[in-house]
Amino acid sequence: MDRNLVLNLARVTEAAAIQGAKWLGRGDKNAADQAAVDAMRKMFDTIDISGTVVIGEGEIDEAPMLYIGEEIGLRNADSPEIDIAVDPLDGTNAVAKGGTDAIAVLAVAPKGCLLHAPDMYMEKIAVGPKAKGVVSIKNSLEDNLIALSKALNKDMSDITVVMLDRPRHDKYAQIIRKMGARIRFIQDGDVLGAIATCFEDVSGDILIGSGGAPEGVLAAVALKCLGGQFEGILLPKDEAEIERCKKMGVSPEKVYTTEDLVRGDEAAFAATGVSHCELLDGVHFVGENIAKTETIVLRQETGTVRFIKAIHHLDKKPEYAK
Ligand code: FBP
Repeated sequence: MDRNLVLNLARVTEAAAIQGAKWLGRGDKNAADQAAVDAMRKMFDTIDISGTVVIGEGEIDEAPMLYIGEEIGLRNADSPEIDIAVDPLDGTNAVAKGGTDAIAVLAVAPKGCLLHAPDMYMEKIAVGPKAKGVVSIKNSLEDNLIALSKALNKDMSDITVVMLDRPRHDKYAQIIRKMGARIRFIQDGDVLGAIATCFEDVSGDILIGSGGAPEGVLAAVALKCLGGQFEGILLPKDEAEIERCKKMGVSPEKVYTTEDLVRGDEAAFAATGVSHCELLDGVHFVGENIAKTETIVLRQETGTVRFIKAIHHLDKKPEYAK
């Protein structure tokens, strides 16, 4: 993946984050999402790619923009063919409620390298590089925590599990508490929760629990770039979702490894904070015309982790006009 193309991804998530952040705490998650989608879509069309959305806002009849299969980018004759996974606002509820941990996020890989994950739940496990290969979604939570504490050379009481705060995870919370580990409950945003396992200064040694399958692919790209491990199992809730799996050529029984979710070694990832989170600052508006953003950009080929702080003069950019 061309390195300048990877840097350009930051422009796309920055645009989505700025427009999404304008809706912080206004109680309208649809408007927040729409603003982020529109901005992301517009910015993509300034980039020299022949892109196809493989994970997006839904099917063509559900979403007017960034729908699955939509072709985006400048699409010149020699533009690289790229598959794109997007979540213009991961944490739409958080934005609507004025909460933390919302990001604008995307991942890219050469055509055919990203799993086309259906929009359903996925059971997930993610760990950082030091614990890569020592846990498995097939193992019991107890065994995984013991293996993790050994691999990280930490007492169990110093292990922190990251999990979405949902009643469906109560069963895990009971086990984790019995084992003596800590839990960091997150209200939304399990892409960030998975990434946290790769940064020692962000709390979280392992992410477990179920969340969106599309977010699973986004997290897998980030973990692959960062040298961590991600595994997921699709959780269709009814016959219709089982049918959907069949139609999309994916299997509910299979353990999807990082490599299954993102093939090859040319993926890239970008996320910009919308509201504040441990890893990234949210968008700060200064006066009428300045917005400050913080973005993480990952390039798998080189393993470079780039944090980009930007100051945007909105009055000089027509795309941000009110
Ligand atoms: P969206 O804001 O994109 O809808 O997703 C937020 C999110 O928290 C994801 O990060 C997570 O995978 C999923 O929702 C969890 O779903 P649920 O809220 O139904 O438990």
